Amino acid sequence: MEIFNQKIQWVDPITNETLNSDGHYLVSNHSSYSISNGIPNFVDNVNDQTQKQVQESFGEKWTQSDFGQNDAEFEEKIKPVYLEMMGLEESDLDIFNNKIILEVGIGSGSSSRLWGPQAKEFHGVDISKAIYRVQTNLKKLIPNPILSQADINKLPYLDESFDVVVSNGVFHHTPDTKLALKNSLKKLKIGGFCIFYIYKTKSPIREFSDDYIRSKISDLHYDNAWEKIKPLTDFGKLLHEKNTQITIPFDIELLGIKKGTYDLQRFFYDYFFKCFWKDSWGYDYSNLVNVDWYHPKYCWRHSKDEIQSWCAEFNLDIKYIKELESGYACYVVKTSSIT
Ligand SMILES: C[S@@+](CC[C@H](N)C(=O)[O-])C[C@H]1O[C@@H](n2cnc3c(N)ncnc32)[C@H](O)[C@@H]1O
Repeated sequence: MEIFNQKIQWVDPITNETLNSDGHYLVSNHSSYSISNGIPNFVDNVNDQTQKQVQESFGEKWTQSDFGQNDAEFEEKIKPVYLEMMGLEESDLDIFNNKIILEVGIGSGSSSRLWGPQAKEFHGVDISKAIYRVQTNLKKLIPNPILSQADINKLPYLDESFDVVVSNGVFHHTPDTKLALKNSLKKLKIGGFCIFYIYKTKSPIREFSDDYIRSKISDLHYDNAWEKIKPLTDFGKLLHEKNTQITIPFDIELLGIKKGTYDLQRFFYDYFFKCFWKDSWGYDYSNLVNVDWYHPKYCWRHSKDEIQSWCAEFNLDIKYIKELESGYACYVVKTSSIT
């Protein structure tokens, strides 16, 4: 029985059964899921404690900050960055026209501004409580976003339901990046496309410092992590303000350092530790980026070879895998069922 006015219905994420509703719960023969403000919660219990930490970290991030919510600010400052992360140009955004789209790891909905408004039907899931902000954040842009609090690895949809699956910076925050990609791709129709961004493996000292700093930060409460990270942000700002260039005329292969001329802040950022600073984003957003990097415990990084091997395993047609400063923007087409 169709119970909601949506083309793609939610199903029980464990059993794939149809769900009925009394307005407060979605109910199958085996489970019931509470609904709050029209948003069902399919993730009452996260048993994996590390995933739970990630869930809580992003829950705080997206409810404490208004990042990406102001229309003008999004258009001017954030959209160009998000487009780059997806490997797209503004003029490409019509590929989403009239598609049934699932966004996994929607956060507070800022990335959805790229594709939600032109979708035929737009679905978004996130494991964190941030999902409850999305409706308010997107209400002027997307009339009826279909949202649920759900885990990528237990999505409340039948396989091969969507024309498009999108995910910006999410798979690497789950227990297993490849599995999260696979479970998301299952929901894509054959012939449908998936665009996603995942972190790349950095140079050796950067990898070492990142793991070290994360081990010091990720057990802290989000608010304490926010404070503790500030000197890294201050350092990034300081280096940026020096406006100094450094030229390395040769590769330092052992450390993965490539010859070239670098802004000093960028040099530290690329090769030693994350000390993000962007003038146009200001202090809080820059600190937010550094906290976003160091606080969530799951934060896998991958090589292009790895991504290519997953694509081969899942029979994906690769449109592109673009290497960016911190990750890869990937655009793939599904050519056969994934089991
Ligand atoms: C870096 S944020 C990206 C948010 C949004 N896509 C954007 O670009 O603004 C990563 C998001 O993934 C979500 N996430 C992490 N693990 C998840 C999982 N297993 N299932 C669903 N969402 C997950 C987090 O809660 C967080 O909101």
